[in-house]
Amino acid sequence: MSAAPPAQPDPHTDAPTFILGIDTSCDDTGLGVVALTAAGPQVRSNIVWSQTVHAEYGGVMPELASREHVERIDTLLPRALAEAGIALSDLDVVAATSGPGLMGALLVGLMYGKGLAQALKIPFYAAHHLEGHIYAAASEEGLQPPYLALVVSGGHTHLFDVTGGGEYRLVGATRDDAAGEAFDKVARLAGLGYPGGPAISAAAERGDPLAVPFKTPLQGQQGFEFSFSGLKTAALLAFQRGARPEDLAAGFQRAAVRSLVDTAVRAAEALGRETLVVSGGVAANRALRDAFGQTGLRVAFPAGGLNTDNGAMIALAGAAALRDGQPPSSLDGGAAAYLPLAPLPDLPHFGTSARRKAR
Ligand code: KG4
Ligand code: ZN
Repeated sequence: MSAAPPAQPDPHTDAPTFILGIDTSCDDTGLGVVALTAAGPQVRSNIVWSQTVHAEYGGVMPELASREHVERIDTLLPRALAEAGIALSDLDVVAATSGPGLMGALLVGLMYGKGLAQALKIPFYAAHHLEGHIYAAASEEGLQPPYLALVVSGGHTHLFDVTGGGEYRLVGATRDDAAGEAFDKVARLAGLGYPGGPAISAAAERGDPLAVPFKTPLQGQQGFEFSFSGLKTAALLAFQRGARPEDLAAGFQRAAVRSLVDTAVRAAEALGRETLVVSGGVAANRALRDAFGQTGLRVAFPAGGLNTDNGAMIALAGAAALRDGQPPSSLDGGAAAYLPLAPLPDLPHFGTSARRKAR
């Protein structure tokens, strides 16, 4: 016999609904608290433990990531609550990422969140990691659909047309590497350190973007796809010929930013969208933000600390689900390593590399 489901809080009152968000999809343990009132959601705390054990391997080791999440998550919860100025008993809702991500890592946060919700007898929402990234930018500005959403992270380069609450259409994606993955790989081959995004960005400040020629990928295409593996190869060849790391960083960043901005702007024009949300780790990039700032579109970015993986963005996704009147998730639901937010379109490259990458 199953117990009656917990009552759903009313998000349309002045009394805040406190939502805990948990993300353990990859190598960051993120817990954050959002207070939702009739005026909208407000991030009250955002605690992220970024795992460093992977640095010596040059990539994330899934089993180590899961173990680190298990070791850290319990110590991060009191910090997330204290920073938000609330007690455990003040929590009204728990939201946790159920996918996509590393299976073992996802399970840690998902099971922790479900257990907490059950113990506190409050509703639980399973959240989609990419929805969290999108809401990290959209909620901040109080944006309502329709808008375009460009998610650029270490694992994804996806362009969605957001037509309503929870309604997504994938209009473009990378054929090969994700944007952040390319930043990381170019930084590694040029000896600039890890994580590559901030390292490339800093080195680019001292470099000449025209010293090494980088062609903007897929120029002249009709669609809205991305490709970064050619830039990576160009960087490797130039490095082997003795190019300065700073010049490589500046040239690579210029081409990557151009590709992202040009493609997103063309898609916005084609679909008649005037607002764009840019989120995910690469959205922290200064050159990318500056270039989008000059497009004439309304562009929303996440606030500081919400670009890279975190729990507050998952709490924001939970807040949106609550406001949209979605019922809580079943505690029987599992995690999914591969979990498309929208069906893959019938384009030559989507069925192969995009699917392969998501696994
Ligand atoms: O969103 P995120 O934390 O994780 C995934 O969901 O993948 O994104 C991490 C990625 C890394 O590849 C990192 O190099 C990149 O975001 N990144 C940046 C910057 N800061 C982080 N890329 C370019 N410029 C930055 N400032
Ligand atoms: Zn992410």
